Amino acid sequence: MAGNNIEEKLYQSIFKRKSIRKYSQEPLEMHKLNQIRDFLASRSGLYSNIDVESKIVSEDKISSLLPIKAPHYLVFFSEEKDGYLQNAGFILQHLDLYLSLIGLGSCWFGLAKAKKEIAEQSQLSYVITLAFGAAEEKLYRENKAEFQRKELQELRDKDIHDELIEAARLAPSATNNQPWYFKVSQNRIDLYLEKPNLLKKIFYQKMNQIDIGIAAAHLKLAATHYNKDDKFLFNCPKADQLVDYLYQFSLKVN
Ligand SMILES: Cc1cc2nc3c(=O)[nH]c(=O)nc-3n(C[C@H](O)[C@H](O)[C@H](O)COP(=O)(O)O)c2cc1C
Repeated sequence: MAGNNIEEKLYQSIFKRKSIRKYSQEPLEMHKLNQIRDFLASRSGLYSNIDVESKIVSEDKISSLLPIKAPHYLVFFSEEKDGYLQNAGFILQHLDLYLSLIGLGSCWFGLAKAKKEIAEQSQLSYVITLAFGAAEEKLYRENKAEFQRKELQELRDKDIHDELIEAARLAPSATNNQPWYFKVSQNRIDLYLEKPNLLKKIFYQKMNQIDIGIAAAHLKLAATHYNKDDKFLFNCPKADQLVDYLYQFSLKVN
C-alpha cells in the first residue's frame, strides 16, 4: 500500500473501526511489529517542528488503575511545544485506523502511564499510550448506527462540507466526550474545542487537545477522499471567537 491508496484505505476504516478492549495475549510476529513501526515512521504530524518518538512495550512497562490487557502498547513521547497534544492525536489516530485496516485491534489508553524505566529512555515527554494486538472480540462495526455519537447538526453551524464533518463526527474521543465544534464556510473549516466546565477541565484538559487532533485526522482523510484537501491554517485571523468554544485551527478546503 503506497501513496494515496493508503490514505483512501485509512478513510474507509473510519466507518468500521472501534475500540478493542479484549485481546489475545499472544505477541504479534516481529514482521507485524516492524510493519507498524514503518507505518508510524512514514507519517507526518500537524506540526513539522515537533519532535516525537514512540516505543512498543509489553504490559510490565505500563501502569494503570483500570488496565486494558493487551500484548503490546505503543507509548508516545513528544517535545512539549504549542500544539503537541493535538499533534499526538493527529499522528496516532492514523495508527489507530491503520491497525484496524490490517486486522488488528487497538484502544487509546489515556489512563495508562509509562513506567519510569521507559519514560527515562526518552528525552521527550510522555504523552499517551495505544494498546494493540489481535482482537478477541468483534473487530469492526457493521454500520453507522453502531457508533454512539452526537448528531451532525450539533457539531457544525452550516451544512456545507457535511461529508467531511461526518468523518470527524465518527472520531473516537476520551470517554466518548466528543468535545469538538466546526464552523464551516466554502473555503475553510474552523475547528473549535468545547469550553470545559471546572470538573472537565481537571480531568480532560490534556485529553481534549488530543481529541481535537484525532478529529482533525478524520477531517483531513475525508478532505483527501473528496479531493477537497488543502492545508491546515494555524492562528487563522479570520476565525470567529465563540462564547462556548475555543478556536483551535482551520482546514482550508477546495
Ligand atoms: C484520548 C483518548 C483516551 C482514551 N482513554 C481510554 C482509556 O484509558 N481506557 C479505555 O478503555 N478507553 C479509552 N479511550 C477509548 C474511548 O473510550 C473510545 O474511543 C470512545 O468511547 C468511543 O468509542 P469507539 O472508540 O469504540 O468508537 C480513549 C480514547 C481517546 C481518544
